[in-house]
Amino acid sequence: MANIVLLANLNCDHVLLLGEPLAAGGRLQYRDQGRRLGGGAANTGVGLLWAGHNVAIASRVGRDETGDWLLQAAAELGLDTRYVEQFDGETGELLILVDSQGERTILRQARRPALPGRLPLEPVDCLYVNLDGAEAAGYMADMAGHSLVVAQYPKGGRWPRPCRVMIASAADLGEQECPWRHARRLAGERLEWLVVTHGEQGAEAFSADRHIRVPARPVSVVDATGAGDAFAGGLIHGLVAGLDMPAALEQAGQWAAYTLSSSSSIPSERLKSYLRRG
Ligand SMILES: Nc1ncnc2c1ncn2[C@@H]1O[C@H](COP(=O)(O)OP(=O)(O)O)[C@@H](O)[C@H]1O
Ligand SMILES: [Mg+2]
Repeated sequence: MANIVLLANLNCDHVLLLGEPLAAGGRLQYRDQGRRLGGGAANTGVGLLWAGHNVAIASRVGRDETGDWLLQAAAELGLDTRYVEQFDGETGELLILVDSQGERTILRQARRPALPGRLPLEPVDCLYVNLDGAEAAGYMADMAGHSLVVAQYPKGGRWPRPCRVMIASAADLGEQECPWRHARRLAGERLEWLVVTHGEQGAEAFSADRHIRVPARPVSVVDATGAGDAFAGGLIHGLVAGLDMPAALEQAGQWAAYTLSSSSSIPSERLKSYLRRG
């Protein structure tokens, strides 16, 4: 069992189910699925909890009914919420459009990503950062001195992200002449691996001298929300267990497949039973 801290968003997702593929300029019908717990903190955290780890989440939510609900729902799942800060303001919802092919489109209000005021400073088995903005870099550099730091690629490639393993969705990374060198510039000397996910094409990993590819699992996609978050959870679970990168990528793809095949962004009960069997 590992001690894991997730610096990531805890969101209230409002899900609209579309009967057709999403296309600009159309006129689409939807079914309102209501709100559910989401964001990287919940989507990645729950799988890691089920894998037997202690998971603390560090996030910010508003001091309102939605914020209270998020805190309570996260705590009920078993996440340690002592580093979740409530700010004076509205929590807001994300709109998640899930189309007839299970692909999701996320609409969110622009909000300045800010760090919670209190963050754990003691060594942990893994710190995972999935939060945009410049502010996280200093904290990550401090933690990287004594802990495994894994980070999501910062949107737009703008902010430094001192870490040992970086995960990027190919859609966010965009065209890079040399992805490894680009990641190294953001992550610094400590970077050992850049993992790039390619949706149904699977994933690849780069190090200074290796390049590994793994295909995606064949899966019938119900809802793609949280696939990348579950992938990160599986990868972290593999790495803290001491697996090498090819084996950790297998684990990550398996976790993602369990999330894709269920109508929830939080890993499905099927991941739970898979982990129990494991
Ligand atoms: N349609 C799919 N079929 C099978 N696996 C998928 C599919 N979409 C995503 N995955 C799995 O989830 C991982 C992350 O998905 P990806 O779409 O790259 O991330 P994100 O949705 O966060 O941008 C992929 O590397 C793959 O293992
Ligand atoms: Mg995707």
